[in-house]
Amino acid sequence: MSNLFISNHPLVAHKLSILRDKDTEPKKFRALIREIATLLTYEATSDLLTQDVEVTTPLAQMRCLELKEKVGLVPILRAGLGMVEGVWELIPNAEVWHIGLYRDEKTLKPVEYYNKLPLEPTVSVCLILDPMLATGGSAVATVDVLKNWGVKKIKFVGLIAAPEGIQNLQNHHPDVPIHVAAVDDRLNERGYIVPGLGDAGDRQFGTG
Ligand code: PRP
Ligand code: URA
Repeated sequence: MSNLFISNHPLVAHKLSILRDKDTEPKKFRALIREIATLLTYEATSDLLTQDVEVTTPLAQMRCLELKEKVGLVPILRAGLGMVEGVWELIPNAEVWHIGLYRDEKTLKPVEYYNKLPLEPTVSVCLILDPMLATGGSAVATVDVLKNWGVKKIKFVGLIAAPEGIQNLQNHHPDVPIHVAAVDDRLNERGYIVPGLGDAGDRQFGTG
């Protein structure tokens, strides 16, 4: 069974179309990244484990369910930052652990510049947040970091993926499900996803 999940939700498709438009300004772009991240996470978390909890309603006591697993959100800086708030709204007690990576412009290999994970893992599930899965180098490196940290259950949540990035992540980490809004055609010679949406970091932060 493939571990690739491409959302077919009409709201995701609609918002992604606006996001891709080169004339969508940063304020709107940030709002859309946040909204799509929320919708994708709703789908990506459908298998989180639950446990029983006793709740007293105004009328009676009853047995309900609560999340059993402690969730960590792992945005890859910078572009993953814009996905955090939307996901946090769904899982308000999640911990957020930032990983700083940038792609070397020539080699396209990820370079790590921020990692403050403590020695022992504090969460049991990690959702890696990054809008773009291009060569897959950043995602593979982040999963490496999280597995070394000791986390067993890891998912990648992104907006747009290239076939090359999916292949790379699946080759290195076949146990990591990939949740995206769309899979595009290819990478260009500079490692950008085509048709894609351009540079997700620059478009959010107005630095392009
Ligand atoms: C972008 C994007 C991913 C990475 C994807 O980050 O946010 O992290 O590229 O590319 P890959 O799959 O080939 O590794 P970038 O290096 O542009 O840094 P930024 O988010 O700080 O702009
Ligand atoms: N990073 C981006 O922001 N966009 C791409 O198309 C590829 C990597």
